Amino acid sequence: MAESLVAKIQKLKKERNAVILAHNYQLPEVQDIADYTGDSLGLSIEASKTRAEVIVFCGVNFMAETAAIISPGKKVIVPEINAGCPMADMINVEKLKELKNKHPKAKVVCYVNSGADIKAESDICCTSANAAEMVDSLKDAKEIIFVPDKFLGHYISTRVKDKKFILWQGFCPTHAKILPEHIKAAKEEHPDAEVLVHPECRPETIALADQALSTGGMLKYVKKSGGKEFIVGTEVGMLYPLQKESPVKRFYPALEQAICPNMKMTNMEKVLWSLEDMKTEVQVPKEIADRARLAIDRMLSVSGR
Ligand code: 13P
Ligand code: SF4
Repeated sequence: MAESLVAKIQKLKKERNAVILAHNYQLPEVQDIADYTGDSLGLSIEASKTRAEVIVFCGVNFMAETAAIISPGKKVIVPEINAGCPMADMINVEKLKELKNKHPKAKVVCYVNSGADIKAESDICCTSANAAEMVDSLKDAKEIIFVPDKFLGHYISTRVKDKKFILWQGFCPTHAKILPEHIKAAKEEHPDAEVLVHPECRPETIALADQALSTGGMLKYVKKSGGKEFIVGTEVGMLYPLQKESPVKRFYPALEQAICPNMKMTNMEKVLWSLEDMKTEVQVPKEIADRARLAIDRMLSVSGR
């Protein structure tokens, strides 16, 4: 990476009073230039407490939208406006309203990987780091409509005993590619490695893992673990922060093809251009943002920020 590009970004970042937030799946050079890297929960918390006037969000759009909703006084810009999330696009408000009408007593828990309009129709938001805790917080609810990820919803339903789950049938195409046979093959090759997978994986894949964790959870777990080798069942970008935080441990991808194309759309040039042009700003209509904020704030207050 040309030094001058890094230097230009650093200089402009200061001038604009901007902070750069990057998800753990971003390209290594983008993670390295960021002020903060983390999982969806960590990024939301960081966005809610930053003092910077501008947030440059390197991730996918639902993450930037979430930051814009919880930081109404700030300018949130994305280097690549076309970085969406196919899972988030698998549900729409009309379908969610139909489901709510069919199950009027159910509470709606939406995974953060969803549009602002879906969050606006939900009782509480969650991430993969805190989903069980968020469902548990709905003490009186006997039925939970969980959207849009059927695999995360299923995983949480196995951990929360007293509630019936109605699962929307969405999924992450990147995590769905990681099959049990990939885990088995990786275990044969690395018999001493612990297997960590993301809860967006299929139940059959999760069943073969030692731990199902958010990306931030994986980083914490590996640091504490006495293990020296890990098979990592998530988007392959995750190997970079794991290796960076634990340089003497070894990491193997469960599937090298587990790549999220949207997460790879952001690069250093686009980060620089976004700061130069202050574009593209993410704006959520006030009426939707005000309702979506309730679901996100509930999550942040239950998880103690
Ligand atoms: P976390 O980093 O919150 O675990 O989420 C993974 C993901 O797929 C984000 O799109
Ligand atoms: Fe969406 Fe999956 Fe990509 Fe995450 S990894 S942004 S859930 S498509």
